[in-house]
Amino acid sequence: MFNIIEAKTLNKDVKSFKITASRIAKVCLPGQFVIVHATEEAERIPLTIADYSRTEGWIRIIFQLVGTTTMKLAQLTTGDKIRDVVGPLGKPSNLENLKNVCVIGGGVGCAIALPVARGLFEKGVHVETIIGFRNRDLIILEEEFKHYSTNLSIMTDDGSAGEKGLVTHKLEELITKGHQFDEVIAIGPLIMMKFVALLTKKYQIKTVVSMNPIMIDGTGMCGCCRVRVGGKTKFACVDGPDFDAHEIDFDEAIMRNKMYLEEEQASREQTCNLFKGVTHE
Ligand code: FAD
Ligand code: FES
Ligand code: MG
Repeated sequence: MFNIIEAKTLNKDVKSFKITASRIAKVCLPGQFVIVHATEEAERIPLTIADYSRTEGWIRIIFQLVGTTTMKLAQLTTGDKIRDVVGPLGKPSNLENLKNVCVIGGGVGCAIALPVARGLFEKGVHVETIIGFRNRDLIILEEEFKHYSTNLSIMTDDGSAGEKGLVTHKLEELITKGHQFDEVIAIGPLIMMKFVALLTKKYQIKTVVSMNPIMIDGTGMCGCCRVRVGGKTKFACVDGPDFDAHEIDFDEAIMRNKMYLEEEQASREQTCNLFKGVTHE
């Protein structure tokens, strides 16, 4: 059993849990994730290790309430327990031999981008961060990104905070103003990563994305998380989740993530009915 030592609400759809997990905290690195299995009956879901303390023995997960499992997880609070947290899984992000990097986070993808920005910043890399959200109410982790970025740009679709526009607009502006990036690291919705990849291909800038296919075991056994990279099949849980963005077949990845939409929708409706009238934090 894993204790939730701090539960926080970051916006109406996103929660953060600090969980006691000393063995994971001791060895985890930016880019790695855990598989969370909240109760005996729950589905196993992958969530990135957004932060950790090796000395205090905790890890932090930040998750968006998108369906049954995340909605049920969000019912837990400080003092509650999670049945299983398995990890760290996946290959850590490469933070070596970089001097000037643009880190891009879209929506809850910012939770995954934060440890990467932090890791780079702590190595003395120039970190130009761009984070994007639909509107001001959905902004998360602004203070943390300010702390771990050389420069931070906030973009909103409706202009209610930061600058109005997409993260790709800001990236192109920086490139055309003369910023020379060794690498762009983009993490967010598949469609956002696809358009970042198209843009950076035009400017021939190496780009890494963190892929989020449906995962079950997270250890390379089930084959569920396969993605096509450079025409070859890769398993995101063991070969990734980071991959060369210019090699990814994004259209196939988008199609595969939608495979169970009907079932997910039906399950979500049932769960919403179950929680009607229940409020949490
Ligand atoms: P559902 O209604 O079941 O699904 C909603 C959507 O989530 C689906 O359409 C599908 O695209 C995706 N999804 C569903 N089941 C899975 C699954 N088993 N594995 C992966 N995706 C699934 N989300 C966060 O909010 N924060 C994170 O830090 C984070 N890190 C991730 C790291 C990795 C390596 C991967 C692969 C995914 C990560 N995700 C993260 C996505 C998260 O796992 C899904 O949002 C979650 O599983 C949805 O479960 P659900 O039952 O609530 O929603
Ligand atoms: Fe099963 Fe990757 S999640 S092989
Ligand atoms: Mg689910």
